[in-house]
Amino acid sequence: MWAIAARDFGAQLELVELPEPEAGPNELKVRLFAASVNPFDRKVVDGMLRGSTPHVFPLVPGTDGAGEVVGSGERIFGTFFHRPAGIGTYAEYVTVPAGNALAPLPEDLDPAVAAALPTAGMTALQLVESLGDAKSVLIVGPNGGVGSFAVQIARAAGKRVIPVGRGDSLVEADALIDLVSADRSSFEANARYAPLAFNTNYVSSDPAQNFGMKGSRETLVRLASMVQAGDLDVPIARRVPLREAVDVSAGHGPGKTVIIM
Ligand SMILES: NC(=O)c1ccc[n+]([C@@H]2O[C@H](COP(=O)([O-])OP(=O)(O)OC[C@H]3O[C@@H](n4cnc5c(N)ncnc54)[C@H](OP(=O)(O)O)[C@@H]3O)[C@@H](O)[C@H]2O)c1
Repeated sequence: MWAIAARDFGAQLELVELPEPEAGPNELKVRLFAASVNPFDRKVVDGMLRGSTPHVFPLVPGTDGAGEVVGSGERIFGTFFHRPAGIGTYAEYVTVPAGNALAPLPEDLDPAVAAALPTAGMTALQLVESLGDAKSVLIVGPNGGVGSFAVQIARAAGKRVIPVGRGDSLVEADALIDLVSADRSSFEANARYAPLAFNTNYVSSDPAQNFGMKGSRETLVRLASMVQAGDLDVPIARRVPLREAVDVSAGHGPGKTVIIM
């Protein structure tokens, strides 16, 4: 099968031919239709999990995808990340533990749209639900994968959203979602503007402010229903054929990058 992979930590991505992965006990083998690109994918290539989990090389990045289960033909989408790291969704086939966050892919949902949803959509939905009855929320990094969903979901929940793009100043609000700060001092400077503050990069000294998404089938089903009902727009910035996907990365202006198999 064809895949996009890195031959070592920190290496450029390249097109490689690999044997199809075979499902082990309690695993599914999935033929992917599409995969989406998250910042986490590049972080794994750059060694974020080095020392904490085994890796397989060539390392195929990618956690999110949509496809059909080989054998049953069941159409699914969700998060495919599992250990060892490196058997990811930038590939024609992937294996995944049956217990991962996976949900049925509705017939009328574009697989590219479904593939764009899991990590960013579940993070955005759970972040907004963590805000409780906060009436206003600053969202730093509002145009990226998580931000573009969080802005919509917070507005639909009746909150006043204050998007903070590059160069924008912060103002006082009830809550802050910081999707950008990569160090403690940047986050703490932003957190002064709101009594309730979350970041997604684990940079706060207060664990309660370090938000970690918890993937679930139920959250995926809710997101798919929101898209089908027209309540959630999935902005796709780029659709890249797998064989040309050597330069994909997250953060290309508004929306998600999706790899089409
Ligand atoms: N903890 C968790 O469970 C969890 C889950 C999902 C994501 N994350 C993390 O959350 C972060 C955001 O994820 P994502 O998928 O939204 O990433 P993304 O798609 O790359 O979006 C990031 C956005 O932030 C913008 N940005 C960068 N610097 C900025 C600044 N100084 N001010 C305002 N905006 C700025 C980028 O704009 P440009 O397009 O102009 O560069 C981009 O639109 C990543 O670090 C990711 O790893 C964590």
